[in-house]
Amino acid sequence: MIATTPRDRVVPAAPAGGAAAAVAPENTPYFQARDLHAYYGESYIVQGVGFSMKEGEILALLGRNGAGKTSTLRTIARLADPHLTQGEVWLAGQPLHRMKAYQASRVGVGLVPEDRRIIQGLTVQQNLQLAQIAPPKGWSLEQLYELFPRLGERKNQEGTTLSGGEQQMLAIARTLARDVKLLLLDEPYEGLAPVIVQEIEKTLHKVRDLGMTTVIVEQNAIAALHLADRAVILDMGEVVYDGTAKEVLDNEDLRHEYLAV
Ligand SMILES: Nc1ncnc2c1ncn2[C@@H]1O[C@H](COP(=O)(O)OP(=O)(O)OP(=O)(O)O)[C@@H](O)[C@H]1O
Ligand SMILES: [Mg+2]
Repeated sequence: MIATTPRDRVVPAAPAGGAAAAVAPENTPYFQARDLHAYYGESYIVQGVGFSMKEGEILALLGRNGAGKTSTLRTIARLADPHLTQGEVWLAGQPLHRMKAYQASRVGVGLVPEDRRIIQGLTVQQNLQLAQIAPPKGWSLEQLYELFPRLGERKNQEGTTLSGGEQQMLAIARTLARDVKLLLLDEPYEGLAPVIVQEIEKTLHKVRDLGMTTVIVEQNAIAALHLADRAVILDMGEVVYDGTAKEVLDNEDLRHEYLAV
């Protein structure tokens, strides 16, 4: 038989009976990305990425610029680009690899993109309410304002006039306003002052303590490693390290080689 490249293998489209028709193999972890291969057009970018998570874990997904971190998050969230050609993604028994982005979102994938995408012309509260329109509903406004008191204080302010840190909080809160099982954060600390980073870190720990499973992608690797339980390092679209966050903090050679910190 002729060997096939990942590109030749096509992930089956969701069956008519619903995307969740597939059953997770026995002993599949709470979250598992298995041997993901994904392309932007002809560019082969995600080259066999795989990692697993237990429920309630925080995982730091790290690597240099262009390593494939954002692409991996987008693949997991099932956005159209990059296009998944091979591999499986399981979340709480659900086959994300057979779904489109809107279906993955419905079963609990919450991606907070780097650009935050606060909706212009809407107040903080309206941004949150809009997120709650499509069921299933996640956290209530009261719970969200308790978690992010700054947002409660500014609920009638237009979202786009918030400070960078407050906008990041709103972007996270808006995601939690839906029924999220897996929170995917792309560079949440970008451009923020250390004191705001600390505030968001505390909040993410609280969210974790309430059972959320979180992947954080960060250029600020040290901050992400302090937040996270586990770390996965990518280099040129492949996993080059998978272990505890503490091990990476303690291993200067590893940090120099792949993170330049
Ligand atoms: N839409 C696209 N079309 C073609 N190539 C892309 C596209 N988006 C990203 N790439 C390429 O994919 C590779 C990985 O990009 P990605 O954004 O996933 O990296 P990253 O690890 O998130 O980097 P950074 O730390 O700079 O955000 C890069 O070489 C990038 O140029
Ligand atoms: Mg990126």
